[in-house]
Amino acid sequence: MRILAIESSCDETAFAIICEQDGKIVVEKNLLATQIEIHKLYGGVVPEVAAREHVSAIFPMLMESGVSRDGHEIDAIAVTAGPGLVPALRIGVELAKTLAWIWKKPLIAVNHLEGHIYSVWHHAIMTTKEPMFPSVCLLVSGGHTELLLMRDHGDYQMLGMTRDDAAGEAFDKVANLLGLGYPGGPIISKTALAGDPNAITFPRPMHGSGDLDFSFSGLKTAVRVHLEANPIDRVNTANVCASFQQAVVDSLVDKTLTAVLQHHPRSVILSGGVSANQALRSILHDKLEKQFPDITFHAPDLALTGDNAVMIAVAGLFQAKRNQFVDPLALVADPNMRLAS
Ligand code: KG4
Ligand code: ZN
Repeated sequence: MRILAIESSCDETAFAIICEQDGKIVVEKNLLATQIEIHKLYGGVVPEVAAREHVSAIFPMLMESGVSRDGHEIDAIAVTAGPGLVPALRIGVELAKTLAWIWKKPLIAVNHLEGHIYSVWHHAIMTTKEPMFPSVCLLVSGGHTELLLMRDHGDYQMLGMTRDDAAGEAFDKVANLLGLGYPGGPIISKTALAGDPNAITFPRPMHGSGDLDFSFSGLKTAVRVHLEANPIDRVNTANVCASFQQAVVDSLVDKTLTAVLQHHPRSVILSGGVSANQALRSILHDKLEKQFPDITFHAPDLALTGDNAVMIAVAGLFQAKRNQFVDPLALVADPNMRLAS
């Protein structure tokens, strides 16, 4: 089965074609246009600007993909239908609907967050690396921080979520406080390498709260209060980055281990933009290996941690296997689309 996928939920326009052959996924096209340089000027993503940029990127991408005019080689079209920014989502959704209608191909509406989870299936399908169910999924991105129990393909239970800022959003806001630019995650993790994670005692939000929820806005305030009393010089900046990162990682790892204790999964999946963070990847991996040696740990290739269309295609492939298609005339972008309640 060959799937064409489109992603336009935020500030990346992405286009992919994947093919499942002998149970393996072959990525035939993986195109990405990032708008980060444009949104940097505003310190965050401006939805209307994002939509305009998607419009100018998406048609050249369709041409560049080399797909035939009648789409005969494509078996199904997958598109991110939500969650995300409505003006941005609409560009991809309307193109996918149009192609599905004129080519008479089945259309798959993919949840962006499910796409992030399926980024770990890119290499894993039909191998011993395939996550086994049930799986505890820690999904950490710029807009979401969720712990989910994945009982089977497409079957999710919400275990916990952030009560305020998402983890990636906290990285972005702290980078802004430090004047480091946008997006904050990559630059904070790089700057943290020169700092001491124990230099400043920032709070571990929601630690011992008894549930699996997160909160990061108090941590951001603690960083602001610290910066009001201390100079933003090179040493302090590195120490703030390292200590802040350690506090976020401790919160995420602590709740994930609690979820594992409570739900006895066979695997743990880490995904989303923040899963590029090396401290998070290695600390979670090491603690799981030590405390739960029978549980397998899965994180995406670094190239697939951020938004991309390969992950949407892979999630779409599994939906297609379950005959989960939508009517191209009825599909509307859903900014609040949820995986589970
Ligand atoms: O999943 P993603 O690409 O977009 C959304 O769906 O939101 O995630 C983007 C987020 C941004 O907040 C960015 O700062 C964060 O992921 N991020 C990181 C790292 N790389 C990206 N956060 C921490 N450490 C990183 N290395
Ligand atoms: Zn994302």
